[in-house]
Amino acid sequence: MTVAKGAEIAPAKGKLGVLLVGLGAVSTTFIAGVEAIKAGIAEPIGSLTQMGTIRLGKRTDNRVPLIKDFLPLANLKDLVFGAWDIFPDSAYEAAVNAGVLETSLLAKVKTPLQKIKPMKAVFEQNYVKRLHGDNVKTGKNKCARLVMIWAASTEIFLKERPVHKTIASFEQAMRDDHKAIAPSMIYAYAALKSGVPFANGAPNLTVDIPALRLLAEKNNLPVCGKDFKTGQTLMKTIIAPGLKSRMLGLHGWYSTNILGNRDGEVLDDPDSFKTKEESKLSVLEYILQPEVYPRLYRDFSHVVRINYYPPRGDNKEGWDNIDIFGWLGYPMQIKIDFLCRDSILAAPIVLDLALFLDLAQRARMKGVQEWLSFYFKSPQTAPRLYPEHDIFIQLMKLKNTLRHLRGEDLITHLGLEYYD
Ligand SMILES: NC(=O)c1ccc[n+]([C@@H]2O[C@H](COP(=O)([O-])OP(=O)(O)OC[C@H]3O[C@@H](n4cnc5c(N)ncnc54)[C@H](O)[C@@H]3O)[C@@H](O)[C@H]2O)c1
Repeated sequence: MTVAKGAEIAPAKGKLGVLLVGLGAVSTTFIAGVEAIKAGIAEPIGSLTQMGTIRLGKRTDNRVPLIKDFLPLANLKDLVFGAWDIFPDSAYEAAVNAGVLETSLLAKVKTPLQKIKPMKAVFEQNYVKRLHGDNVKTGKNKCARLVMIWAASTEIFLKERPVHKTIASFEQAMRDDHKAIAPSMIYAYAALKSGVPFANGAPNLTVDIPALRLLAEKNNLPVCGKDFKTGQTLMKTIIAPGLKSRMLGLHGWYSTNILGNRDGEVLDDPDSFKTKEESKLSVLEYILQPEVYPRLYRDFSHVVRINYYPPRGDNKEGWDNIDIFGWLGYPMQIKIDFLCRDSILAAPIVLDLALFLDLAQRARMKGVQEWLSFYFKSPQTAPRLYPEHDIFIQLMKLKNTLRHLRGEDLITHLGLEYYD
């Protein structure tokens, strides 16, 4: 990824089409939310692009514009949506089925939601074993620009293989119908071949493979991933940096969840859960750095469980039991019971990613967009670099990238100048 300081950014003229792979709980909560905000009946809570500010210059300067005023982001009224799914339900029916939003709110945005009918999906049973859909491929709005976001079910765990290495070997493998080519990779490939930036909201391998990263670089397109950071992992990346900053030790972190939406059902399959587990487990290791702080973090036990429990629907309950130790090794415990709503936490991430990817493309930022780590459980990085998981560092990285893009000074928080 390269970003020129004070780069010229093409204006956000015309409509921005947001193409969603998967028209399930996350996608419909996102679309319904944007339509409700456009209609003036809801607020974009949780969206950094819409509500966040960015401090510029000295603390005494009082320059704290909203991020959306500081940069030429697409306006919400210019967003239009398209989607693929293996089920033919419109966005309205899918939103009612997902059961995340109240029917009274959905009734107010029924007209635009009903117009969104999913296109036929690229799907193969073997990659999402618990789903059986009919709207499967056997390939209007006048958009000036497009972005594509994967918000479809988590695929089975795949490892990088030799066919993923180069663009040519990947294309050959697609022609051969090779089993290392998952549907998500085909969507990403199609996006990157068509000049469309791509974000991966699930823990699938997808654009992590060298072939697709190379394709993004070659075609000057931004990509980012993977796995939206919501719920329990969001909490981990808020709390763990705090414990570490005070040099408090950790014996163990036990996390368990109950959830009853379709995502929970898919994750009940051990192969799909393995993909998710890999994504969830690495977070603490990277934040706590046991190799740097062996006396505090060597051999801590980290367990993550997801249990499919239908009565809860999208309203997940996540429990964390954290066994920490302090001065002289005295043990303490922290218990978290997070009654969260997965799709409510994910929807503003989809919005921000759509707007930032579109911005990145207009600013000619190509390849992996590490500054968008803030939104992901397993952020993509430069080759051979470890991912940054600490949410506060991620936020600083994101905001400094925006300052850099606009030719503003970066903020170090050193602050010595105020004492001169
Ligand atoms: N909600 C969160 O907090 C959160 C956080 C991180 C990641 N995610 C991931 O986001 C994704 C979406 O979550 P959700 O709760 O909306 O799930 P969901 O099950 O409600 O929706 C997924 C949709 O994708 C469709 N689908 C599956 N395979 C497809 C294919 N090949 N092409 C097109 N459509 C396909 C399914 O039919 C379904 O409608 C999941 O992978 C989930 O793990 C969600």
